[in-house]
Amino acid sequence: MLTLQVASRVDEAHGIAGLVLTDPQGQHLPEWTPGSHIDVHIDRPGQPALVRQYSLCGDPADRSAYRIAVLREEAGEGGSRHLHENVRQGQLVRVSEPRDLFHFVPRERMVFVAGGIGITPILPMIAAAEAAGAEWVLHYAGREPSTMAFGGHLERYGDRVRVYVSSLGQRMALPSIVAEAEEAVVYACGPARLLDALEQEAGTAGVDLVVERFTNENVVETESDHAFEVELSLTGRTITVLPGESILDKVSEAGVPAPSSCRGGTCGTCETFVVEGEPDHRDAVLNAKEREESEVMMICVSRCKGKRLVLEL
Ligand code: FES
Repeated sequence: MLTLQVASRVDEAHGIAGLVLTDPQGQHLPEWTPGSHIDVHIDRPGQPALVRQYSLCGDPADRSAYRIAVLREEAGEGGSRHLHENVRQGQLVRVSEPRDLFHFVPRERMVFVAGGIGITPILPMIAAAEAAGAEWVLHYAGREPSTMAFGGHLERYGDRVRVYVSSLGQRMALPSIVAEAEEAVVYACGPARLLDALEQEAGTAGVDLVVERFTNENVVETESDHAFEVELSLTGRTITVLPGESILDKVSEAGVPAPSSCRGGTCGTCETFVVEGEPDHRDAVLNAKEREESEVMMICVSRCKGKRLVLEL
């Protein structure tokens, strides 16, 4: 965990606050790679603390600061509202070290798709693609220009950046974007409906797609949830997880260390190796292939399809 200082706050667009975070003693910050995010811990007096993930949108070579952009979400639990209303220059915030779920690797041809605030992890990726001399294009969609962050920054890339503004009737044509991707890998971040549609198109076309989701729209608890046993292979303990309980909570109660952060299936911190058994994946971290392979699972929300799991804990 890092305690950083808000060095500056600017409006990146309507409803989007850009924060620059630095070490209070001026130390270098831990390294990161394009596509990484940090967890921001939001302590609210008299209310439960929240943890939210924000992509780093600055330059990985600049070890003096992390840059994030916070979209104010009125419908959420209040984390982003709290940041918008309370975070000021000079304040301290607790954040995790950067974590990379995108595993971005520059290739000769790349297609980037961003919806709204999903532009944030894409910015350092296109900078890396440009620096590597890759052939790339960015498709960036938003509601209206005033709500689309970093438009000015993207102008330097000329016609490699295609902008779609829905209030002007402009829409991304996903089938043709995927069809044109051919041998390219597609990196995408944005609202669930955009990523769902893109996953469907890419799956049909057999195109390589890497997405990152900020929210977990999977159902994490159902009426039909059943009890199951989890054997912890490293510690030799066995725990029982009842409906309404999480593996993570039961593991922690048993005194077995298990890292966690968001506890909602979005950050990837609680990823755990599966030794045996069939996980019932309910997170937003793993893609379809990783779910099928089931080598790992997110134990904060995912469960067991059968009666028993063996986990490397
Ligand atoms: S703690 Fe974040 S995915 Fe489980």
